[in-house]
Amino acid sequence: MEKDNQVTTPVYDFVRQYRENGTARFHMPGHKGRGFLGFEDMDITEIKGADALYESDGIIAESERNATKLFDSGMTLYSAEGSSLCIKAMLYAAFRYFNVYLQETHPVIFAARNVHKSFIYAAALTDCDVVWFKTGKKPLSICSSMVTPEDVEDLFERAVIKPAAVYITSPDYLGRTADIKGIADVCHRKGVLLIVDNAHGAYLKFSENDDHPLTLGADICCDSAHKTLPVLTGGAYLHLSKDLVSKYDYDGLYEYMKSVMCMNGSTSPSYLIMASLDKCNEYLSNKAREDIARTINKVSQLKDDLSSAGYDIVGSDPLKLTIRLHDGNIADFVRSKNIEPEYADRDYTVFMISPFNTDEELDRLHDALIDYSKENDVRSSEPAMEFEIVPFQTANIRFALKEKTVTMDFEKAQGKMCGFPLVSCPPAVPIIMPGELVKKEVIEVAKYYGYEKINVVEADYR
Ligand SMILES: Cc1ncc(COP(=O)(O)O)c(C=O)c1O
Repeated sequence: MEKDNQVTTPVYDFVRQYRENGTARFHMPGHKGRGFLGFEDMDITEIKGADALYESDGIIAESERNATKLFDSGMTLYSAEGSSLCIKAMLYAAFRYFNVYLQETHPVIFAARNVHKSFIYAAALTDCDVVWFKTGKKPLSICSSMVTPEDVEDLFERAVIKPAAVYITSPDYLGRTADIKGIADVCHRKGVLLIVDNAHGAYLKFSENDDHPLTLGADICCDSAHKTLPVLTGGAYLHLSKDLVSKYDYDGLYEYMKSVMCMNGSTSPSYLIMASLDKCNEYLSNKAREDIARTINKVSQLKDDLSSAGYDIVGSDPLKLTIRLHDGNIADFVRSKNIEPEYADRDYTVFMISPFNTDEELDRLHDALIDYSKENDVRSSEPAMEFEIVPFQTANIRFALKEKTVTMDFEKAQGKMCGFPLVSCPPAVPIIMPGELVKKEVIEVAKYYGYEKINVVEADYR
């Protein structure tokens, strides 16, 4: 990986060289390197020497090996289609391990309720059953569902079936983090894999504490590189731990993982995104640690200042600023100062910060929030709603998604079976899953979040 103490950047170098060669492009894409956006000349396809993401044995494989070393994983694969693609491949990886080595047949996952909707599609594609951890009385948000090692232990005690894996999301959209080490210990004692959706935490590997899920004991995890690292939208990593790769003892594992990525993704992955992932390796190998440490300090200072001004700051993700304030509409206030947050609902406003935010931008955010606190009471922060959705599952996810469905007002859907999850991004966390019956409390939660429509199965299975 090292060349003069520098990580190689073979994909980026290839694409840049090709741009400079002035080669007549009688291949895809149709813009031929000249287009309306200005960067088309680096947008290439699988020409000679460019390797191919799903059959990689050239520059892409070299770049992925670099990432494998940087993340200290057993195997790191690139996705040009976000964690959404990785999540599908993660379930295949878990079930493959489960089928081959434990000789069980029926795929089951124990999952925390705040899954991203791509998990729902992954469950449908793999036709697995999902047993949900209890949401607990106090998540106070659809985005959070922090299961503890005790919750995991408890479900193992109560469940009649052994899952292939436990699946959690950490950090979640609000920056809450789970006790991954504790949960991994329980899973491994039970002989079950731990899968972590670390879409929001790629940078954690390069923070001082190294709180990356792989370091804490996860077996499989995905990181949306694009969410927290300087990578183009769509760039993500799928990691298998060293321990899992050695236990897999399977010569064709790399090819298998490539196949399951290919099965669910496009065979024309973007070279712009892959070059961006590749170039990021160089950054991760030199400046990232220092930059991230410095930015964490600045964010910590910002959080202290805001707490002193009365704000309720939640979550422990060091590069996320999450403010809890019921119906405060902080988002519109900061927008009036030319600041755009990542996410806002009736209770939480989330700002994602990286070393690529300038000091001026951080100051602007600081000043805007301090101004807001002078004009508004920021101390009464409790969400107006505390809820627990106890799912009433009548069919598995794949079954419900194959049925004929219709979209209707939530109010009229009581007693119907949920079809497709109609939740937009962010946060793309469904409040009800395909196959579950719409109960009164689900309708109340939907109303609270302003969801008006639900897709339901037309046939009446009650
Ligand atoms: C928790 C979580 N998981 C997965 C995803 C999907 O990630 P991507 O956008 O990289 O496909 C998201 C997207 O926001 C997310 O918030």
